[in-house]
Amino acid sequence: RVPDPCAVVLFGATGDLTHRKLVPALYHLARGGNLPSECAIVGVARRDWTDEQFRGELEKSLSKNGDPDFAEFWPQFATRLAFVSGTFDDPTAYTRLKERLDQLDVSHGTRGNRLYYLAVAPEFFSTIIEHLGHAGLVYPSRQEAPWSRVVIEKPFGHDLASARELNRDITSVLDESQVYRIDHYLGKETVQNILALRFGNAIFEPIWNRRYVESVQITVSEELGMAGGRGGYYDNSGALRDMVQNHLMQLLCLVAMEAPVDLSADAVRNERVKVLEALPHWTPEDVAKNVVRGQYVAGSIEGKEVPGYHDEKGVKPDSQTETYVALRTTLNNWRWAGVPFYLRTGKRLPKRASEIAIQFRQPPTTLFEVDSEEAGGAANLLVLRIQPNEGASLAFQAKVPASRRRLQEVRMDFRYGTAFAVPPPEAYERLLLDVMLGDPTLYTRTDAVESAWRFCDAILDAWARPDAPPPAPYVAGSWGPEAADALMAGEQSRWRRL
Ligand code: BG6
Repeated sequence: RVPDPCAVVLFGATGDLTHRKLVPALYHLARGGNLPSECAIVGVARRDWTDEQFRGELEKSLSKNGDPDFAEFWPQFATRLAFVSGTFDDPTAYTRLKERLDQLDVSHGTRGNRLYYLAVAPEFFSTIIEHLGHAGLVYPSRQEAPWSRVVIEKPFGHDLASARELNRDITSVLDESQVYRIDHYLGKETVQNILALRFGNAIFEPIWNRRYVESVQITVSEELGMAGGRGGYYDNSGALRDMVQNHLMQLLCLVAMEAPVDLSADAVRNERVKVLEALPHWTPEDVAKNVVRGQYVAGSIEGKEVPGYHDEKGVKPDSQTETYVALRTTLNNWRWAGVPFYLRTGKRLPKRASEIAIQFRQPPTTLFEVDSEEAGGAANLLVLRIQPNEGASLAFQAKVPASRRRLQEVRMDFRYGTAFAVPPPEAYERLLLDVMLGDPTLYTRTDAVESAWRFCDAILDAWARPDAPPPAPYVAGSWGPEAADALMAGEQSRWRRL
């Protein structure tokens, strides 16, 4: 299905996200015939650019994307692009934008449908939405055309209170059905595959519970430090707000949720949010026992020396911001009661790798000798690889040839690239297409945002106490602070070395 004709308005059009992700995604969609021919893309930003300058800048960045037919396709794509210069708090900018959009309705046939994408710093979210309302640029909610929808990039607030305030501001202008809060992890093909694996097959679901699962480990590790001048933003945010509150929570939801009755947006989102509601209400003592925060010091990654967090640009010299979080939680529901979920994420870890590992329980009796150094012994392990090497592998035991009773772990492996012979599509393509189609399934609803903050706020509050220990240092290029191992003391599990 190709979406309705529409104008895509990119606030923050000169920024990194627009150039690196949004416009390339729109270009690919157009290239693949997934954009309607009546679709205009309007950049809005402070710079005093003309349409021609905007096109020139995008041509420079897009031409590096490796499309062999770029020269042929670009001129046609460029006619879709327009630019409106203005600051986000200036009402006249919105008057100009309205005039431009009205013209495009005529020249490009966009028929009054508007998609506003706020690729801007969070302090502008409320301002822009308020101005859109005043200028008559958003219509009251209704399902039929013409429609107006607004996509908001994270962070959605800094804590529960500010998230609620932001939601109040947004919903004073827009109906919830017009708001698309993006979490790009949900757009990743392999993340969507979690539901396909669980609910598109009969063999996994019967054992996907506390009777058979020993523990679940979710890792999102990054090699990168504060690349691209992000130190200033990150130092006010930290790994818990930047990664755990959103991406890791969403992965947890998909692994732990019940089967939805169908794949409609509300059915899926209802099940996701129930997982967040089953997270415990922690006291500061619980946080001290179950959460470890770390901060990297100078070290080396792939043989290259890298500076410590305190020496990164934009970071306060005495910053206590965490660049690593590991936590152990449980879920208070029938399926998962008592099963530990271990979550970790960090910057400057040895490699970029995201995965979910489901560790099954040991067989009930030991008939064989197990040749394994892994903590799981003879237990089966299912690993869902989100990135890179997208796919899944199931580890099980096989008899060592010619031995009598020795077992060795072997693997069944699914590789996305080999099985489908194409690389997984970019998350932003799917997400942009969905919002144009009016499908919010892969977007985050207010209640999910607030439930995730409720859990993270308890951690932030505990860390803010004067007696809270500072982040534990870890050497860049290592797997994080040793203190993280203590989360598994006395248990079957070990952090996986990826
Ligand atoms: C972003 C975070 O949301 O996700 C970044 O702000 C992080 O700090 C990024 O690097 C990771 O995304 P991906 O798709 O590269 O795993």
